[in-house]
Amino acid sequence: MLPTLESLSAALGGLAGRRVLLRADFNVPLGDDGRIADDFRIKAALPTIGWLVAQGAEVVACSHLGRPEGKPDSRYSLAPVRARLGEFAPGVELLENLRFDAGETGNDDRLAQRLVDGCHGYVNDAFGASHRSHASIVGPPRYVPSAAGRLLAKEAEVLLGLRAKPKRPFVAVLGGAKVSDKLGVIDALLKTADEVLVGGGMCFTFLAALGHPVGGSLLQGDQIEACGRLLQSGAPIRLPSDITALAPGERVVQAGVELHPDWRGLDIGPGTAAEFGDLIATAGTVLWNGPMGLFEDPRFAAGTKAVAQALAASRAFTVVGGGDSAAAVRQFGLDREMDHVSTGGGASLELIEQGDLPGLRALRESAGTGGEDRDG
Ligand code: 3PG
Repeated sequence: MLPTLESLSAALGGLAGRRVLLRADFNVPLGDDGRIADDFRIKAALPTIGWLVAQGAEVVACSHLGRPEGKPDSRYSLAPVRARLGEFAPGVELLENLRFDAGETGNDDRLAQRLVDGCHGYVNDAFGASHRSHASIVGPPRYVPSAAGRLLAKEAEVLLGLRAKPKRPFVAVLGGAKVSDKLGVIDALLKTADEVLVGGGMCFTFLAALGHPVGGSLLQGDQIEACGRLLQSGAPIRLPSDITALAPGERVVQAGVELHPDWRGLDIGPGTAAEFGDLIATAGTVLWNGPMGLFEDPRFAAGTKAVAQALAASRAFTVVGGGDSAAAVRQFGLDREMDHVSTGGGASLELIEQGDLPGLRALRESAGTGGEDRDG
C-alpha cells in the first residue's frame, strides 16, 4: 500500500507549520502564444494542495514542463502555470521547471537533497511523471517522510484495479498511431481483458498481418510479424471491419478493409463504430486508450467520438487513459461522464503493463511513513 497523506501527517506529528515539497505534474499543453491551452493537470492537483493547506502546511510545489535540455529555457518557464496556480491556490510556492537542471532527468541525488532541504515532508501527486526515475520523483522519499497525494493514490487504485479485479466483461479499446508503443500493454491486457478492440493508426499493421491491402495508411512493417503472431494465438482481438479513408482530390470515402493503393485510412468506419459501441454498451468495465482516428480533423473524428459517446452512455466502469484519448473526451465535452480520466499518458500504460512504477516503488520504500512495512 502507498503511504497516505494521513500517515504523513501522523509521522510528522501534524502538518501545521510544516514545509512540504509537493511534486506535481504541471506539464500542461501551451498554445503558440505561450498561454495554457488546458489546465486539467493543475486542477487535478488541487484536492491534495487544498488538504495540505487546510492542515496548515506550507506547500512548495515543483514540476517539469516540456523537455528542455537541462538548462534554463524561457520557452519552458513555469511562469504561466505559477500565475494560474496562484488563482486556484494563493500562497502556494512553485519552483522553476525542474528540467532546467540536468540532475532531474539524470536522477542526481544531489538535486533530490537540495529539493528537500528545509522541507519536513514530501508528497508525490505527479502521476503523469511517476514512470520516470527522475530526481524529484524517486529521490525525496529517501530523505524525508513521504506520501502519495490524492490524485496519485486514485490513479494507482483505479488502474491497478483493472489488472486485479475488473467487473466483467472487461473490454479494452486501444488506438493511437504506433502499434509498437502498445504491444506491451496489449500483451498485459490479454491476460485480464475479455475483448481487446483495436482502432486508430495501429489497426493497419494488424490488418496487413491478415493480408489486407492498407493503401497509404500508417503501417509499421517491422511489427507485422508480431501482430500476426498475436492474431494467430487466438487472442480475443477485434479489428475494424470498415474504414473511413482519404482518397486523391481530398475525397473522403467509406471502405471495407481492402484499401485502394491511393487511399489512406484515417478513421474506423461507421459499421465498426457501431460494433465497438455494442460491445462497450454491454461491458462491465471499459478501458480506452488512444483515438480511433485523426480526430483533430472533423472529417475523421466520428469513430473517436462514437467510442467516447458509447463510454459515456455505458453503465460500465469507464476508464480513459491519459494523453490523446483524454484530450478527445475533453474536446467532446464528455470527460465528466467517465468514471476516471487518467492524467498520465505513458504512466497509465506503463502501470497497466508492469503493475508498478518507479514513483510508487519509491514511496512504498520510503522510510518514516509506514510505506516500507506494507505489501503491494
Ligand atoms: C507526460 O506529459 O506524459 C508527463 O508529464 C511526462 O512527461 P515526459 O514524457 O516528458 O517525461
